[in-house]
Amino acid sequence: MTVKEQLKARQLPDLFTFADGTPVTAENAARRQAELMEIMRREVYGPAVPDPDYVSGEVVSEGRNADFAGKASRKQIRITFGIGEKSFSFPMVLVMPRNIEKPPFAVIINFRPNVPDDYIPAEELVDKGIGFAAFCYEDITADKDDFANGFAGVLSGERGEYGKITLWAYCASRVLDYVLARINVNTEKIAVCGHSRLGKTALLAGACDTRFGFVYSNNSGCGGAALSHGKNGEHISDITTRYGYWFTPGYAKWAEREQELPFDQHFLLASIAPRKVYVASALEDRWADPTSEYLSCHAAGEFFRLFEKPGFVASDCLPDVGNVFHAGSIGYHLRAGMHYWSREDWNLFLKFFLQ
Ligand code: GCU
Repeated sequence: MTVKEQLKARQLPDLFTFADGTPVTAENAARRQAELMEIMRREVYGPAVPDPDYVSGEVVSEGRNADFAGKASRKQIRITFGIGEKSFSFPMVLVMPRNIEKPPFAVIINFRPNVPDDYIPAEELVDKGIGFAAFCYEDITADKDDFANGFAGVLSGERGEYGKITLWAYCASRVLDYVLARINVNTEKIAVCGHSRLGKTALLAGACDTRFGFVYSNNSGCGGAALSHGKNGEHISDITTRYGYWFTPGYAKWAEREQELPFDQHFLLASIAPRKVYVASALEDRWADPTSEYLSCHAAGEFFRLFEKPGFVASDCLPDVGNVFHAGSIGYHLRAGMHYWSREDWNLFLKFFLQ
């Protein structure tokens, strides 16, 4: 089956018609994007957290001159932000290549606080002249159905409407607030990056914050880049049973009702236009479902054309392992192997980022 036929069979909700039936055109595309985000927040991720009143940072410790063989500096920084009477602090690591005036920059949402890490090829990033900040998502709020701890505790302490993905994504933007106010970076090349549950988080962070010119989701699957209509592997019932707290409580009502969804994850990808999106799949990651990730890129790609951008430039059939599509606003690759954030994924994304 061609991609066109596959998409037709999935019967996706239409990106090109407003909820009230008005057709979407180049002139009103930005308004449609606001509507798409409103839908995704209401149905999937929960409401937006209010903007902070201030963001500050304190350098807690500096690395050694010899870090990264002297090619880059490393600092531990404690970010603090305030929303009204409430404030919250969390640690991050900032790595800046030396002797580069305005490096491209990545905010990396990770599973662990250490740098380097299995998932962060720190020296490769430095060698490509990229600066980055990394933080551990559980330093924001624990990855469990408990809203009394961390930032969730500060916000309300109760389950409420927020999903944890929203809280993790919000803090990627607070890292960027700190960086843009104090550090020289190439503002044309700022990426937000994450893998799996944090790939879902990176997509939401990028959709909500237009300062991220690049949004990189690795193996993000259900509730991330993958379409839910016709999806294999993880379904909404699986994810809301085990990880309901990642989402707004109402998302669970769509369990076993994928074909009725009046939205899908291509809405999230389309919200990022005309900025760049990167979707990385792995062949054996059947839980995430590479086919549904790939078809989502095709479905969202059409929307980028409203901005006179090339959208998703790929073949009209399913990808073969090893295929890389870098020519459009949406980049994609399908690598061999399992669910993992590998050097191969990073190297391919970085090619797209720096091209
Ligand atoms: C689970 C979950 C996925 C998620 C993954 C991860 O497998 O079901 O949705 O992406 O964990 O974050 O590693």
